[in-house]
Amino acid sequence: MNILHAASELYPLLKTGGLADVLGALPFAQQQNGDDVRVILPYYRQIREQIPFTAEVFRCDGPGGYAVIRFAEYRGLGLYLIDAPHLYDRGGNPYHDGGYRDYPDNVVRFGLLGWAAAAVASGADPFWNRVDVLHAHDWQAGLAPAYLKAWGAWQVKTVFTTHNIAYQGLFDARHMSDLWLPWEMYRPEGLEFRGQISFLKAGLYYADHITTVSPTYAREITVSAYGMEGLLQQRQSQGRLSGILNGVGDNIWHPAGDHELAASYGIDNAAEGKAANKAALQQHFGLKNDPAAMLCVMVSRLTEQKGADFLLEALYLKLAEDPSMQFVLLGSGAPWLEQAFNELAQHYPERVGVHIGYDEQLAHRLIGGGDVILVPSRFEPCGLTQLYGLKYGTLPLVRRTGGLADTVAGFGESGEATGFVFGAPDAQALAEAFNTALYAWSEQELWEQMRTRAMQQDFGWLKAAQAYRQCYQ
Ligand code: ADP
Ligand code: GLC
Repeated sequence: MNILHAASELYPLLKTGGLADVLGALPFAQQQNGDDVRVILPYYRQIREQIPFTAEVFRCDGPGGYAVIRFAEYRGLGLYLIDAPHLYDRGGNPYHDGGYRDYPDNVVRFGLLGWAAAAVASGADPFWNRVDVLHAHDWQAGLAPAYLKAWGAWQVKTVFTTHNIAYQGLFDARHMSDLWLPWEMYRPEGLEFRGQISFLKAGLYYADHITTVSPTYAREITVSAYGMEGLLQQRQSQGRLSGILNGVGDNIWHPAGDHELAASYGIDNAAEGKAANKAALQQHFGLKNDPAAMLCVMVSRLTEQKGADFLLEALYLKLAEDPSMQFVLLGSGAPWLEQAFNELAQHYPERVGVHIGYDEQLAHRLIGGGDVILVPSRFEPCGLTQLYGLKYGTLPLVRRTGGLADTVAGFGESGEATGFVFGAPDAQALAEAFNTALYAWSEQELWEQMRTRAMQQDFGWLKAAQAYRQCYQ
């Protein structure tokens, strides 16, 4: 099968969240099925710096202006790169400027992504002109299925994956002509949403099949999805909506071969390995060197989605109550949350460490050195850090939602527990989950059983690749 993914991030070339991890792993797993898999991406400045040598495939005028579509092989994967410096040659975050303001031309920056993806899928590359499936990810690529429909390119089947229904890509209706889309598409049975153009809705409406990144989230979004639930119910009743869990890349997240760790380890020597990593982490953050403390870690964007606000409240409660608890955070996001976590660290210098920023290496050291990884999200389409936690024997403490509910078996709820699960999205429920974890921590034999079970879980990408293959077929 010839498969073209369209997306706006790919790890390690450019990453702001889990989407990049998926694009950095799924295509490679699909290649192992013998498929010819390629990815189309904007040629952002960061990608240009890492991949300076490319071959020109075709030149075009598309939404947003003139572009050259280039091709390069990257670690054995074919990449189409949309070269339009006036749109993509900017450093930093791909979506907004340093002051968190969305770029005013995002409508055409990502309009062009969908357009160019549709062009390649419908045969614009003479050397790869039979694409079977165009697989578009998130709102940034949401227009790709709409262009194919507008052009009548029915032979290419389209799959749209929503990694997070909260991001909708909404733009003023007047941009329809900038996007080179026919006005007939601007209607409720189309890509219009509450008086605006919605790139997300374009993907949900025009794709042949919709997937999201866990079975539970696939159900949840038919109940509540910021106004998209009606459409999703309809597509579900046609058998056009499914949930496929993400995996974890063994090449990047693997405690036995992880060079970022102070000590690598496997199931058999997890106790010693984790103790060494924990001591190193405590030292790095200037915390009390206390092997008996239960060290909770979190690696996350700091937003309301991630429950960071009620986590703070719960931490103030528990840290005051229980001197044997420690907490380390690596994250960035909303300025008020960044500041509030820094204040918490000032309040508990020996028990709380906070690093505001984005740091891949440190992320490994947190996940290797923690006892518990926190993911108290209000909603979570899949979530990846709890999967890393399972692999590293760092027991996840998560809220029962989306992919978290599908991947962590809660202590007290399952005979095969791999972590701790709570229900209500508030500080009280989370504080109780901390109590449960502290109890389990005090029973070291029990803890070790859970840790072994956690490390034995299999969330490999090959399984996911197999499920996508069935969906394409
Ligand atoms: P989301 O995509 O909603 O942010 P996921 O759990 O799917 O959530 O993926 C987040 C990814 O980003 C993980 O790979 C996580 O390790 C990484 N990450 C998040 N924040 C940071 C950070 N501050 N430093 C390093 N990695 C981070
Ligand atoms: C989104 C979701 C996250 C998911 C990731 C990759 O960013 O918020 O839950 O793991 O996409 O699919």
